[in-house]
Amino acid sequence: MGNCVISSSRVENAHTPRNASYPPKVVASKRSLFSVSSSRATFSSPSTLSVPSFSDKTSNGNLSTPRTEGEILSSSQLKAFTVNELRNATRNFRPDSLLGEGGFGYVYKGWIDEQSFSATKPGCGMVVAVKKLKPESFQGHKEWLTEVDYLGQLHHPNLVKLIGYCSEGDSKLLVYEFMPKGSLENHLFRRSAQPLSWTTRIKVAIGAARGLTFLHDAESQVIYRDFKASNILLDSEFNAKLSDFGLAKAGPTGDRTHVSTQVIGTHGYAAPEYIATGRLSVKADVYSFGVVLLELLSGRRAVDKSKLGIEQNLVEWAKPCLGDKRKVFRIMDTRLEGQYPKKGALVVSMLALQCIDHEAKLRPRMSHVLASLEQLQDPKSAAFPPQADRHKTSCAISKSPTTHRHSSLHPAAAVRSPLPPIAITTGTLS
Ligand SMILES: Nc1ncnc2c1ncn2[C@@H]1O[C@H](COP(=O)(O)OP(=O)(O)OP(=O)(O)O)[C@@H](O)[C@H]1O
Ligand SMILES: [Mg+2]
Repeated sequence: MGNCVISSSRVENAHTPRNASYPPKVVASKRSLFSVSSSRATFSSPSTLSVPSFSDKTSNGNLSTPRTEGEILSSSQLKAFTVNELRNATRNFRPDSLLGEGGFGYVYKGWIDEQSFSATKPGCGMVVAVKKLKPESFQGHKEWLTEVDYLGQLHHPNLVKLIGYCSEGDSKLLVYEFMPKGSLENHLFRRSAQPLSWTTRIKVAIGAARGLTFLHDAESQVIYRDFKASNILLDSEFNAKLSDFGLAKAGPTGDRTHVSTQVIGTHGYAAPEYIATGRLSVKADVYSFGVVLLELLSGRRAVDKSKLGIEQNLVEWAKPCLGDKRKVFRIMDTRLEGQYPKKGALVVSMLALQCIDHEAKLRPRMSHVLASLEQLQDPKSAAFPPQADRHKTSCAISKSPTTHRHSSLHPAAAVRSPLPPIAITTGTLS
């Protein structure tokens, strides 16, 4: 089945520590973008590159009909910028305009006129975020085009707005609405950041869940495939918006439950069945959502190489305590200083446990997750997510995970570990 033969595996360490003036630096280790495939897409010339389009239905209902770069760019309502315009908008990509850095490239703050979208002086007009592809970026051009394709057509309050793009030779850039509070990752893991309150964490989870629900329930289903804290951007009121659609993929059609594709995503967030088989469904996004719920509860990263043994993997470390009212406090972020409703924390932990179920089909739909989270905002409701009892687990560790350190990988975790061994290399993929 499928086109993904897992015969070779590589990990690109897509990140280096940031060098941004805003938001301040993230000091903790970054996750890595990985790809496991023997059938990587190759492209010889940018002008012939095509990506599957979610909106192109063929007569047999297949959504994976590719569109050429020309078709995508000409059909979009996005503004086509020149490099010069974006140079002016960002003060020549000055380091002090830098907002952050990801695997795709650097992100700069810029200013454009609200009406004409032409570059303006700093401080005048509308603030934008300009993402500039690094020449050595992993799958960069393909991701750039996929992003233009999807965000050019998808509009929702919980998806970041793409304003325009630039394509001049090898220069590929994207222009987005500016998100003043940056990424969830920065707020959760940056030491200097103000801790997020419980209410804000739930608000962020709900916003992100709305974004995913919109994608999953769209007439032409979209699998986001890169759900993680760094891709959840926040506006001035902590409304969450999903960014980075470079890995998005059209969902299955007809009676199919999944699409088969090369395995690509971020270590720690990708669903086990997807890594093992290349079978991708919306339930892979649900898994990633569960991991982010755990990050919100615990203030810990999905993968943290600075920790020891089982604590390196958030899912394995937290799982034994989820859905258990006597144990869930052990995984809670100490930066919350106990300021959270015990019942609410238990409900979220149960939801997370359902989302990270090893069996994709047992995971809830995002609409169900969203409804459960929304109930938490309703003071009258004390509803628990359905089927929560099915997931009750006994806690395998006797000490609090917040204080207990394993010197080596927990044997049970090693057996349960969903990740195949992946060789780490900084080389490019062939
Ligand atoms: N629209 C935006 N508004 C404000 N800041 C942004 C915006 N887009 C990105 N950023 C900042 O730039 C950083 C880098 O974003 P980018 O999406 O390139 O990388 P990433 O999400 O950290 O990693 P990855 O490459 O794995 O997606 C973000 O974490 C955020 O701080
Ligand atoms: Mg990102």
